[in-house]
Amino acid sequence: MASITLKINDKNITIDADPKMPLLWAIRDLIGLTGTKYGCGIAQCGACTVHLEGNPVRSCSIPVSAASNKNITTIEGLSEDNSHPVQQAWIQEQVPQCGYCQSGQIMAATALLKRNPNPADKDIDSAMQGHLCRCGTYPRIRKAIKTASQ
Ligand code: FES
Repeated sequence: MASITLKINDKNITIDADPKMPLLWAIRDLIGLTGTKYGCGIAQCGACTVHLEGNPVRSCSIPVSAASNKNITTIEGLSEDNSHPVQQAWIQEQVPQCGYCQSGQIMAATALLKRNPNPADKDIDSAMQGHLCRCGTYPRIRKAIKTASQ
């Protein structure tokens, strides 16, 4: 066990954890931010995506020690009331069906729009590849990203 400080959603939170614990476990089970989801646990589905220093990462496959004292943003950190433009676009385009993968999808989309505010379809497809949605909401995800970019 080690004492590890996470800078998560602009707050410093110190936890006692095995340094090898996946960051996702710390976010969900120790800190209680359950908007980030567990899908596969092996970096294949994207459900667990958060931002680490502004970049989308798969938190199931990063040891919590690697995130120590780095800026982490989870879906809860985008806004307190779903007012972030990407969240608004998701609502406008009625993207989710079951919704399980959508926080990871939104975190990937916000990172894309931050580095490329006006992405072409190929840029969206490239950024979102590997984010799996069993309901098949891909056309609406692409539409919402376009809406958010306007
Ligand atoms: Fe992390 Fe699937 S749960 S990529």
